[in-house]
Amino acid sequence: MKKRIFSGSRRLIMAVAAIVTMPAWNNAWAQTLRIAPLANDNFLIRVSPETKEKFLLLPIEEAAPESQVRVVADNAQQRLLNIRMALTKVDYYLPFSLDEFRGMELSLYSHINIDRSNRGGVGSEIWRNHIGLSDTFDTTNREKFRPTYHHAPEYAWMNDPNGMFYKDGVWHLYYQYNPYGSMWGNMHWGHSTSRDLINWDHHPIALKQDMHGAIFSGSCIVDHNNTAGFGNDAVIAMYTASTQTPWGYDLQTQHIAYSTDGGYTFHKYEGNPVLTADIPDFRDPNMFWMEETQRWILVMSAGQEMRIYSSPDMKDWTEESRFGKGLGCHDGVWECPDLMKLPLPGSKGSKWVLICNINPGGPSGGSATQYFIGDFDGHRFTVDNAGRYEDGKSLWQDYGKDHYATVSFSDAPDRRHTMIGWMSNWQYANVVPTMQYRSANTICREPYLYKGSDRLLYLGSRPSPEYTGKGLDREVKIKGSCSVILSNAQGEEFRLIYDEKAMTLTADRSCSGEKAFSQDFDVKAVAPVRNRITGMRIFIDNSSVEVFANNGEVVITSLVFPKSRYNNIRIEK
Ligand code: FRU
Repeated sequence: MKKRIFSGSRRLIMAVAAIVTMPAWNNAWAQTLRIAPLANDNFLIRVSPETKEKFLLLPIEEAAPESQVRVVADNAQQRLLNIRMALTKVDYYLPFSLDEFRGMELSLYSHINIDRSNRGGVGSEIWRNHIGLSDTFDTTNREKFRPTYHHAPEYAWMNDPNGMFYKDGVWHLYYQYNPYGSMWGNMHWGHSTSRDLINWDHHPIALKQDMHGAIFSGSCIVDHNNTAGFGNDAVIAMYTASTQTPWGYDLQTQHIAYSTDGGYTFHKYEGNPVLTADIPDFRDPNMFWMEETQRWILVMSAGQEMRIYSSPDMKDWTEESRFGKGLGCHDGVWECPDLMKLPLPGSKGSKWVLICNINPGGPSGGSATQYFIGDFDGHRFTVDNAGRYEDGKSLWQDYGKDHYATVSFSDAPDRRHTMIGWMSNWQYANVVPTMQYRSANTICREPYLYKGSDRLLYLGSRPSPEYTGKGLDREVKIKGSCSVILSNAQGEEFRLIYDEKAMTLTADRSCSGEKAFSQDFDVKAVAPVRNRITGMRIFIDNSSVEVFANNGEVVITSLVFPKSRYNNIRIEK
């Protein structure tokens, strides 16, 4: 997509304005964009087959309620979108790509949620005067909070990382993406790639929502041995299609899509869905190949438990077992699972770790990532030492407020289980003070098992080796209880308080910068410490701080919105 200006937009806006004042269709069929008012706050936005431009630019107002847009082309319903069409002012524009509708008559039946709360009466629908066609869309960043070395979408909303895999030197990262707004909705899979986990290239949308539903979270694998029949080394994505029936029920079904060009374009399998269940929250398929049983293993979040399935070909799935009753935190829905084998420290053995994201129920409110350590035999996951998880007790991979939906890359080099998380919290993700884009991901991390001073096993997360020696982090050595304070020239501070007696590390962002957007933001995150802390690696970016104490034994990830990036570190006893 080319950067800069909406070319010819003035002329176009005037032309559009002239058309929209007409009461209904006229015979000016040569017009490429026409708008006709229909009954009951509905409008028909029509783009003719002769249209040459690449995009229909949608004027968006963040505070406007969602309007419903039914996209019809070729006499078929193509999408059902919820778009915050501007009613009183235009906050920004977003492009609706016309490429796939070239040569077709395109109709957008739009039920505009007109604001009748006297914010402007008749004038409270200014989208009509600003919608237009264009060949370019401006993706230039104008926001000071955009991170410099974390992955973030080029524009618009992002949540969970999805379907990550590594192939031929390239890390592929898909993500929950709303191309039509900077708040959650209209889920697609966006796509980015990187060779160094620092610089990311952005690609066209990989999976678009369709009439099965929006494309929710899922995973990808590389099918080296053509088990699914789409070819050797085909990339197979498995995702949840989520839809609301006209009768008001949410339905979630599991689908696969394959790519024979290394993950850039996907074809949805005609036999979809490949897996269903009779419960409403049934989503986020995560699959991997189990050498021992020569089967694909799939972990699904299902309400407040995980269900485990197996398959020879990713099309026919057999339920193997269920996990979670009476164990861990159940204060929210279990989401985005992952299951991986990690080496035991100081021995040749290994243990399995089940990752279970949950929302809400996190240790300092909202969403967070809990984990369980145990064994998996290809059929059933069992925890060691169940007492650690009984009565609502749970272990968390990251005790900060902004670490969620974390899952691993498949096929990472050297049998790594590189993970990445969404750096936000469902309590306030939609209202953090950015607009051109909203949400970034954490830096990538390498999970590992370590022993605490209580001799029990815990999950640690080290920064991936790609970040070493790049000058991105600051190393701090400490001895005994102290506060590590990050600050900027404006006197804003982010405090880390280490209490060696209480064995806790606390992140305090009460003076960190902007925080009024949500009362859930200024909450201290307290992490239990398993071994005395002697040092920390701290990654500071324009709107985040990630702390890895003892190189990953205790991890705290926090969003911050300071006037300028913290550039000073001091230690107070
Ligand atoms: C987690 C989640 C997933 C779901 C996706 C929808 O953040 O709720 O369970 O697939 O987001 O965007």
